[in-house]
Formats: sequence, C-alpha cells, structure tokens
Amino acid sequence: MNEQQGSIVCVGVGMTLGSHLSPLSRSYIEQADVVFSLVSDGLVEQWIGQMNPDVRSLQPYYHEGTSRLVSYNAMVAAMIAEVKAGKKVVGAFYGHPGVFACVPHKVIEQARALGYYGKMEPGISAEDCLFSDLAIDPGQFGCSHFEASQFMFYKRIIDPSAYLILWQVGIAGDLSLSKFSTGESYRQVLIDILSLHYPKDHQVILYEAPTLPIHSHRIESLPLSSLLHAEIHGYTTLVIPPCQELIRNMEVLQRLDAIDKDHKNIKLV
Ligand SMILES: C[S@@+](CC[C@H](N)C(=O)[O-])C[C@H]1O[C@@H](n2cnc3c(N)ncnc32)[C@H](O)[C@@H]1O
Repeated sequence: MNEQQGSIVCVGVGMTLGSHLSPLSRSYIEQADVVFSLVSDGLVEQWIGQMNPDVRSLQPYYHEGTSRLVSYNAMVAAMIAEVKAGKKVVGAFYGHPGVFACVPHKVIEQARALGYYGKMEPGISAEDCLFSDLAIDPGQFGCSHFEASQFMFYKRIIDPSAYLILWQVGIAGDLSLSKFSTGESYRQVLIDILSLHYPKDHQVILYEAPTLPIHSHRIESLPLSSLLHAEIHGYTTLVIPPCQELIRNMEVLQRLDAIDKDHKNIKLV
C-alpha cells in the first residue's frame, strides 16, 4: 500500500525532565507539525512546549467518572484527525510510549491500517529507573510485570521465586475503569491475593522515580500487610521481591548432563 501524506510517531520523553529524551525523539518533536503530549508534570509539558510551537495536552481527555477507554479513544481520534489532515504528528508520552500505555499502540495501529506512516520510538520507562534505583537485575531471579487490576481480575500464575512488579497499584481493582484512585477495601483484596503466595510480613517496595531533576526517588520498604494504609499515588509502582529460593529442575539438569556426556563420547570415538 502506498503511504499517504500524514504520519504519526510516538516518542517517549522518559521519566525525568531534561535527562531521558533521546536526540532522535527530540528531533521528531522539533520537526512535527503538531505534538500531542501526555506527560507526568506541567513543567515537563512546558519543556516540550519549548521544542515546538504547537503542543496540545492530552491530559484534559481524562475525567474522573468517565471510562478510561472512552478517554483513550478520544485521544486516538484527535491525533488521527491531524494525521488525516496530512500533518506530521508526534505523540510525546512520558516514560516509554509502549510500556503500560495503550494510546500510542492504538494510534499507530489505526494510522497504519489507514495507509499512513506510524512508528514508535522507545523511551526510558519507570521500569528502567526502578532497575537502576533499586539495583535490580531482572535476569537474576526473573521478573514478571502486571497491571495491578488485570492481575486481580484474572487468575495468573505467580512465581514467588521471581520479582513481581505491579503497575497502576493506585487504581488496583477499579472495575469501572473510571477512578483516579481506589481505596483500602480494594487494596485489601489485592493484599489477600498476594498473601496466598507471600508471607504477610514479606517486605515489599513502593517505588516512585523522580519526574523533576530536583526531586529524588521514593523507595519505601514495608511489610505486605502494611500496604493497606500506605501512601500510594497514581505514579507509584509496587515491587515484590522473591520470597522463595530458586528450585533446581533435577529432571532437566539430568537430561542436559546426559547430552553433555553423549557429546563427550562422540568426540572420543
Ligand atoms: C499508564 S502507566 C505508564 C507507564 C509509562 N509508559 C512508563 O514507561 O513508565 C502508569 C504507571 O506507571 C508507573 N509510573 C508512572 N510514573 C512513575 C514514577 N514516577 N515512578 C514509578 N512508577 C511510575 C506507575 O505504576 C503508574 O501507575
């Protein structure tokens, strides 16, 4: 299919103002006809405003009491309208535009389906900051990530010998998809699910990456049961370190050992 004039590129501006934006993403922002932004802080929005004269915030599309799905569709529609008008459109999203963020994926998919150019440029996500600030290597024990509500709504396989990271824990359990935060009764349900796999006194971590360079991160360790009354914001991520040691899979290790021995014998023959 021939691509039509008009394009959408979604870039990530990273978590911390001024320090995480890649040169390529910056140049997309600077050269765009119009930039739609969804960022963590008014100052970040102003910073992007210095790179392009036409920056439009997507924040007003969120309304407490309105399903986020409605807001997401409206954001996508606003961007697609400009793409159809033949403009070079950029969506500038905080963190990585493709990590726990559906609007950038949706708008690129729709633009491509209509025959327009669509691309995503990575950014530094909350997860990247978390790995640095908490000195976690996800490869050490393995690591699974879930959106907290989805984790509650579905039966998932939990591996307590790996890290478990729950995103959007501030709105955990929100069936309406329209709340800006959920309260203690919702959180108690999450604690009860986690308590099936982790001791109640297991130390979990509330993590917040700094959005401004003058801020520092928040790393608060607390027992699982204390999550109930903890201060949790829309920008808090819950990190649950492993509570069990890795268990060797003796059957697989023996099979692999036998293969090694076979190979040695072949060499000797
Ligand atoms: C809709 S997701 C967006 C994630 C973003 N795309 C990224 O790459 O990090 C929102 C969730 O990201 C996490 N998050 C956002 N800002 C954060 C911050 N400053 N520190 C830690 N986690 C954050 C929280 O779990 C929050 O509920």
